[in-house]
Amino acid sequence: MWIFGYGSLVWRPAFEYRTRRPGYVRGYMRRFWQASPDHRGTEESPGRVVTLLADPGAEVWGMAYQVAADVVDGILDQLDYREKAGYERHTVDMHSPDDHSVFAQGVIYIAGPGNPNFVGDHPVADIAAVARVAHGPSGANREYVLRLHQALVDMGAHDDHVSELARLVAGDGIVGSSPSSDST
Ligand code: BEZ
Repeated sequence: MWIFGYGSLVWRPAFEYRTRRPGYVRGYMRRFWQASPDHRGTEESPGRVVTLLADPGAEVWGMAYQVAADVVDGILDQLDYREKAGYERHTVDMHSPDDHSVFAQGVIYIAGPGNPNFVGDHPVADIAAVARVAHGPSGANREYVLRLHQALVDMGAHDDHVSELARLVAGDGIVGSSPSSDST
């Protein structure tokens, strides 16, 4: 059983896994178009986190985690609860960066347009203005942006939307802060 992370799961899975490997999924783009009232912001001052939007021809890089059969139900229950603010489970083909073959199917969490926290398209500068200041139980929104960016750079992935947002959020050139507790 595999789980594919393209947001906080890329750098902080917060669950037990057997092995992990970078991979990508086809047909989606990653965007900071989802408000976070419960992890990287608050109801009064929601942060911004990623979701995926259908985009034929595009691909989204992330981290694939293989989890043992006897713990998978518990992990998915935990993720279902943690991602209750609009995300739903889907199953996707995961591709190998090496030969582009499908190496497995994985569970992925996507918050589609129409969920209550979907904010949709806004100028990246506006998203950055929110992400620079928002803070929630899981930590600073700024940290989320910068850690995702760094993790993608480390795996050799390119994501113009994330890179541009990280550039604007970093501002002073300081990348990241100390890791906070688990989750999104
Ligand atoms: C992730 O793939 O890292 C993720 C995406 C949406 C919600 C939570 C985690």
